[in-house]
Amino acid sequence: MRMYDLINKKKNGEVLTNQEIEFIVSGYTNGTIPDYQMSAFLMAVCLKEMNVEETSALTMAMAHSGDMLDLSAIEGIKVDKHSTGGVGDKTSLVIGPMVAALSVPVAKMSGRGLGHTGGTIDKLESFEGFSTSLSEEQFFDNVNRMKLAIIGQTGNLAPADKKIYALRDVTATVDNISLISSSIMSKKIAAGADVIVLDVKTGSGAFMKTMEGSFELAQTMVNIGDNVGRTTYAVISDMNQPLGIAVGNNLEVIEAIDTLSGNGPEDLLDASLTLASYMLLGAKRVATIEEARELLLNTIKDGSALKKFAEFVTAQGGDASPVFDTSLFPKASIIEPVYAPKDGYVSDIHTDEIGMTSLILGGGRETKESEIDLTVGMKIHAKIGDEVTTKTPIATLYANDPEKLSAAKERFIKAYTISTEKVKAPNHIHGIVT
Ligand code: URA
Repeated sequence: MRMYDLINKKKNGEVLTNQEIEFIVSGYTNGTIPDYQMSAFLMAVCLKEMNVEETSALTMAMAHSGDMLDLSAIEGIKVDKHSTGGVGDKTSLVIGPMVAALSVPVAKMSGRGLGHTGGTIDKLESFEGFSTSLSEEQFFDNVNRMKLAIIGQTGNLAPADKKIYALRDVTATVDNISLISSSIMSKKIAAGADVIVLDVKTGSGAFMKTMEGSFELAQTMVNIGDNVGRTTYAVISDMNQPLGIAVGNNLEVIEAIDTLSGNGPEDLLDASLTLASYMLLGAKRVATIEEARELLLNTIKDGSALKKFAEFVTAQGGDASPVFDTSLFPKASIIEPVYAPKDGYVSDIHTDEIGMTSLILGGGRETKESEIDLTVGMKIHAKIGDEVTTKTPIATLYANDPEKLSAAKERFIKAYTISTEKVKAPNHIHGIVT
């Protein structure tokens, strides 16, 4: 078999066999297929697409490209959660501690930022010393003891996805249903949890911009999960504007801490409660979503979720003191407001452009090797439906480089549409696929 022929086959819109897909995945993982051939193949998939059978074959080949974790050493029904990627999406940092505080084991595998979206691992590295490179034993032990551990794709878990994910990030090959489904579900299947809750983002800041595409992505992933015996739910949540107020690594961690302390933005709380409720339902900890929401809210009120967050950060080598005093996080050196370009109502936000603004400031990766600046980002003060004037700061930008700041400001303003008509704010949740 030759990679050249397989690229050509997909370029011509033909269907690949299981063996051909396994050849591509194993060849790229072990280095016999180079980046340039894989890039061409991924682009062909984006342009010609894969059918359901090819997507399943790709998922399973990627899941089996490394170790398959057997979590049977951890007591109880293990739950995991994954987002398709958004801007300002820090729900994992809120959900993990709440669910673990209710004694449901959260065995989570997370990723880094991709394209214009942020990643949980980058955010957690805001804590000095924090590591997601746990050995299998440490991972099991932490989940057993504290009910919460987050690992990265270190070691040998879905190594094919790790390599492909990094390549997609820099070759404009992220927004494809088969590639997103296989990336997410291969990791989730390899990481071994019994219950998988997927947060499928929809709208201008999501990889899937349309409601139809988002429901199709959700259904594809739920079917893959169900076929391998995992209880899988997908929540379709809004990404037509950033979630919460903060965008950028440190700033988002602070907002998650505020939310766990009972002072978070309402949209972030609602999205987190919805996702966490399905985790509790899947784990059979509750009989109804209403019961779950009440229990979860209690973990915020009684302080147990915040305490759990600090315990988790410490257990993974991080300095948890900023959990109780967020002023301890390092700060950006330049903090500047951005004003609305005209009077009116915010009617539309190109949320992916907001993500790109954060990337320009240094909060995301331009190439596979880029280092990110954890202190930069922004706080969004005007959301869809809000009235603004030219004297209204619609955001505050946090930067360390004046040139990057001026480029980011220009891009940020262009992301906003201000109209004379008042527009209704979008719903936070658009549906559930089970
Ligand atoms: N998250 C992932 O893990 N993979 C994708 O392809 C997109 C979001």
